[in-house]
Amino acid sequence: MSKQQGPMELGQLRDRVAVVTGAGNHGIGWGLCCHAAGELGMHVIVLDLHEKLVREAEQRLRQLYPQVECHGLACDVTEPEQLTTVAARIADLLPGKAIGAVFANAGVIFSHRIMNSTVQEWETTLRVNVMGVVNTMHAFIPLLQAQESESIFSATASVGGLVRGDNGGASYQASKHAVVATCEALSFELARKSPQIRVHVLCPCIVASALDKTSVVNQRVQDGESSADEVEALGAGGFRLAMTPERHAIQTFEHIKAGNFYMVTDNVRPYVDHDLPFDGVAIMRERHENMQTLTLDNSDAWERRPGMAPSAIMKGPMFGEPESF
Ligand SMILES: NC(=O)c1ccc[n+]([C@@H]2O[C@H](COP(=O)([O-])OP(=O)(O)OC[C@H]3O[C@@H](n4cnc5c(N)ncnc54)[C@H](O)[C@@H]3O)[C@@H](O)[C@H]2O)c1
Repeated sequence: MSKQQGPMELGQLRDRVAVVTGAGNHGIGWGLCCHAAGELGMHVIVLDLHEKLVREAEQRLRQLYPQVECHGLACDVTEPEQLTTVAARIADLLPGKAIGAVFANAGVIFSHRIMNSTVQEWETTLRVNVMGVVNTMHAFIPLLQAQESESIFSATASVGGLVRGDNGGASYQASKHAVVATCEALSFELARKSPQIRVHVLCPCIVASALDKTSVVNQRVQDGESSADEVEALGAGGFRLAMTPERHAIQTFEHIKAGNFYMVTDNVRPYVDHDLPFDGVAIMRERHENMQTLTLDNSDAWERRPGMAPSAIMKGPMFGEPESF
């Protein structure tokens, strides 16, 4: 097994830089920034679409973690030259500091069935979720290759990128399957050449965030229907069984420490205070069993549950009881 896949000593990340895209709201990226700064002593670069969002995130981080340096930079991950400019600025902002981790985390979701989804939704989803990750690789992998010290490159896919397509999730899941395959390919390409770079794909189950809302807000700004100056940081949906971004980050770094490539972050103790996991691995296994028999089991399409559309993946302990919602 290559060094790239082995356990990692997280203590070496102290005084190094963590770069996190899509961290301007109160979601997964924000949780990773807080953990990197507060628990690992890393300096943090917050990237997100709007100047106002990243300035406010920078201020929050500086107040919470005065012992490290935190900077917010506006950057659209669908624009390669913006990422290259940001990558170059980090050396000026934090001279002499090595980059310890890059989290390509920015993402969007538009949950519509295929026949109700628009071409624009598909294009935005693929541009942000897939090309945003590729652009982040192009901007940062050469910098990590130039360093001798070990570093982490993680892209946020989803457990949706490992399981079968579902009701209303097609554009999102198609994009996340692409992120998983792209990270697998990057890991392979770097295995011999740059084993000091540890590639991971982050596949969260259910984390409290406002992803559906931030996706709509950002689309409205892009369409000129509202101003970027009005955008407020959003967080935590109402699903009480979700992981908090902070506890999700603990699980993520446990995976990194263990050297796990597929970082499936399930809703299990001690990261949540209940015993109703999403059980992502069981749903992954189901897909692989289908593939091995060259069949697709659609029996879940006949399921009728109060308040929920039929789903092949929103099932199991977390979604089993109506009172879960
Ligand atoms: N919340 C979950 O349960 C969950 C589960 C699986 C995967 N994910 C993934 O986690 C990642 C973070 O999402 P989240 O749930 O924390 O929601 P979030 O809304 O807090 O994070 C997404 C961020 O990406 C930013 N963004 C969107 N387009 C961008 C662009 N072009 N350039 C730069 N930034 C951009 C948004 O402004 C937002 O801050 C996403 O990739 C999402 O698909 C989330």
